[in-house]
Amino acid sequence: MKNVTVISHPLISHKVALMRDINTNTKQFRELVEEVTTLLTYEAFKDLPTVPVTVTTPLERTEQQMIAENTIAIVPILRAGLGMVNGVHTLFPTAKVGHIGMYRDEETCIPQEYYCKLPQGIENKVVVVLDPMLATGGSAIAAVDMLKARGVKSIKCMHIIAAPEGIEKLHNAHPDVQIYCATCDRCLNEHSYILPGLGDAGDRLFGTK
Ligand code: PRP
Ligand code: URA
Repeated sequence: MKNVTVISHPLISHKVALMRDINTNTKQFRELVEEVTTLLTYEAFKDLPTVPVTVTTPLERTEQQMIAENTIAIVPILRAGLGMVNGVHTLFPTAKVGHIGMYRDEETCIPQEYYCKLPQGIENKVVVVLDPMLATGGSAIAAVDMLKARGVKSIKCMHIIAAPEGIEKLHNAHPDVQIYCATCDRCLNEHSYILPGLGDAGDRLFGTK
């Protein structure tokens, strides 16, 4: 599927296995989310435009490509997307962060929006939406809808675990959005949880269950 990339790498696979493990504690889980996100970021931004700059080395002047300042913005979907922010900031330390608050209704699994605060000028940035879990796709679609309504044109969605159903739904709703994930799992269960998955990402990150 065009614009859908499962980023496969032994390091990512290893860390996702540790994340899935029921015996992995909150501290370890939080660290793994950050580390996997940094690895995904490295790959997901390899198409970023660069500009030539002149650098003076101790020996001579040379031309080198660099990423223009303030090119990207980060938008985590609360709560679980928060756990991925530091992973992107490791590589893009000055990126501005917007927040979209959304939770799935327990009965219907339809996302309910409760918060939205986006940085000024976001419409001119490459925006990366963060959410470790892409299940039915409802939350990611709603987040992309909100960003497009604000005029954002270039959007990447970054997930750690995705369900085939969610990838298809997000891709069909927004074919221009680039989707990146660490793994595409088997399916959703009757409560729209991803199988084999890792359980509730928010609860595992914040220790709420
Ligand atoms: C989880 C997850 C995603 C959403 C994915 O959040 O972090 O945001 O579900 O499901 P979807 O693809 O079917 O929309 P949840 O609603 O549990 O909220 P939380 O992060 O506050 O726990
Ligand atoms: N949200 C989660 O945190 N986990 C799932 O498996 C599905 C949605």
